[in-house]
Amino acid sequence: MATGTAATTIPTAAAAASARGPGRVNLIGEHTDYNGGLALPFAIDRGVTATADPLDGDRVEVVAEDLGETDAFPLSGPERTEGWRAFARGIVAELSAAGVELAPARVVFSGDVPQGSGLSSSAALETALCLALLGVAGAEEPDRVELAKLCSRVENDWVGAETGLLDQLASLLGAEGHALRIDFATLAIERVPLDLRGWQLVTVDSGAAHEHAGSGYNERREECEAAARELGVAYLSEATAAAAERLPEPGRRRARHVLSENARVDATVDALRAGDLEAVGGLLDASHASLRDDYDSSVPEVEALVERLKRAGAVGARMMGGGFGGAVLALLAPGADLPAGATAVVPGPPARRL
Ligand code: GLA
Repeated sequence: MATGTAATTIPTAAAAASARGPGRVNLIGEHTDYNGGLALPFAIDRGVTATADPLDGDRVEVVAEDLGETDAFPLSGPERTEGWRAFARGIVAELSAAGVELAPARVVFSGDVPQGSGLSSSAALETALCLALLGVAGAEEPDRVELAKLCSRVENDWVGAETGLLDQLASLLGAEGHALRIDFATLAIERVPLDLRGWQLVTVDSGAAHEHAGSGYNERREECEAAARELGVAYLSEATAAAAERLPEPGRRRARHVLSENARVDATVDALRAGDLEAVGGLLDASHASLRDDYDSSVPEVEALVERLKRAGAVGARMMGGGFGGAVLALLAPGADLPAGATAVVPGPPARRL
């Protein structure tokens, strides 16, 4: 039956499936996920759409429409590779390893989250591919926290980025009008209404593209793990402030960032519940200072952009995501003009079949 060459749609009951995976904005709580701490992300209305059509044969074809590139590999055991292909192959391999019976398919995807902009185009791609592949196979959707872990394994083991669970949980479990307070020690997730009362959250790309596998991200993670080992705790978030202050550098400042950032997440939840957006702005500024001075994850382009946004009247501005480039998030008071290059972001729905 296999033609061995081009995509041939089989005339069976197998049906095409489309899915949308959103990117995310992290309001606050940066570099805390892999440290067993707290974060407050939300899914956005930008993302990746993937459409899977059934094929005969035993392979998967993937088309990155925006790049004009394709990939093809056996359903039963894709080999490792690099770039966007590593995501597609990893998703297929990890879904199969989790016991999902996938079907041969041709998957076409395209997106509107700029790659490397800090809005997690990678989580958007992972979640869209997962849901489209599950859909075309007629497979039941696994528990979404488990699915987030699976997507995260793809980044860790197939793409080589030691990222945490923040982006995948936000993309899969986000909710319109809400941010998610995630406790990464327990994976307890609480929806927090994000009522902006006329204020605006905007992101601006710094133009300095970051790539987790190649940036200082993995190095920071190793420093945190070393500091936690030194303190005899599983994650830095379990350390006391007093013990953290006795660590040698850079562990001392890394731990100081993690502990203070966890506290800022809960302060932000309180400020949102009280409708005090001015206070949220102050917490964004404090997060940025901590990421810059204690976590050493800023770059000159990001610093220049944060200053420009503050001069333009932002009540708070901070680098967002993995750092070392990418996007800056800013909070603007009601009536403020959008600074050049800024895109307003609001909490949108989670990853879903279309
Ligand atoms: C990236 C990673 C996340 C998280 C953030 C920093 O977005 O993918 O897991 O670690 O950086 O908060």
